[in-house]
Amino acid sequence: MATDIHDRRLRRGRRWWDLVSPVHSSAGGSSTQATVLALRYLDLRKGHSVLDLGCGSGAALPTLSAAVGPSGRVVGIDYSPRMLARADAVLRERGIQNVELRRADATRVALEPASFDAAYACASISAMPDIPAALTTVRRALRPGGRLFVFDMRLVPRGWSTPLIWLIQGIYRVSAGWTGVDVLDSARDIFAEVTLPDLPGKEGVGQPSAGWPPYTVFVATVSP
Ligand SMILES: C[S@@+](CC[C@H](N)C(=O)[O-])C[C@H]1O[C@@H](n2cnc3c(N)ncnc32)[C@H](O)[C@@H]1O
Repeated sequence: MATDIHDRRLRRGRRWWDLVSPVHSSAGGSSTQATVLALRYLDLRKGHSVLDLGCGSGAALPTLSAAVGPSGRVVGIDYSPRMLARADAVLRERGIQNVELRRADATRVALEPASFDAAYACASISAMPDIPAALTTVRRALRPGGRLFVFDMRLVPRGWSTPLIWLIQGIYRVSAGWTGVDVLDSARDIFAEVTLPDLPGKEGVGQPSAGWPPYTVFVATVSP
C-alpha cells in the first residue's frame, strides 16, 4: 500500500481512537469475554512472553500479566497516545510490573523475530490500515508453534444481515480506517493453521452464523 495512503488512514484512525479513549472501557464487555477465551486457547504459562496488539486502554493487560507471572512479560502495542495513557494508569493502579507499553504502528513495528510465545488481538486488527502487514508482523514475532488469538470484526455481508453490515462497514471505514480486508481470510493466507473454536453460545460469544453477529473468533498458529 502506498505510504501516503497508509499514513492518512493511520492519522484518521489515531484521531478516532484518541477521541473515544475517555469512554473506551478498560474492562468489561467483549474485551473481558475475549480475554477469558484467550486464556483457554493460548495455553499461557508462567515465564511466557505475550504480545497484545492494539492493547487500547489495557482491558486485557492485567489478565495476561497474571497468566505469565512475574517471570513472564507482556508487551502492549498501540498507536493512540491517549489509549496508552489510560493503559498506563491501569498498570500503575494495580502495581503491575511485567508489562511494557509501546507506542507504535502495529503494522510496521520492528519486533525481534520469534521472541513471543503467544499473541492476543481484540477488536484491533480490523482497525489497522494494513491488515496483512499486521498479521505478518505478529507471525514473524511468534516462535514456531506460537499462537495468535483474535476476536475481531468480520464485516463480510452474508444473507439477511447484508444491509446492516454495509452500514457498519461505512461507519468503520470513516471512523477507524477499515480497509475492506477480511481479517479471517487474511489470517488464512498468512498463518500455517487457522482454527475457529467451537464456542458455546451460553458464554455470550458463540461463533457467528450466517454472517451475524459481525465478528469472528479464531486462533492462528505458526508452523512448528
Ligand atoms: C477497539 S480498540 C480495542 C482495544 C483493546 N484491544 C480492547 O480490547 O479493549 C482498537 C485499538 O487498536 C488500536 N490500533 C488501531 N490501529 C492501530 C495500529 N496501526 N497500530 C497500533 N494500534 C492500533 C487503536 O488505537 C485502539 O486502541
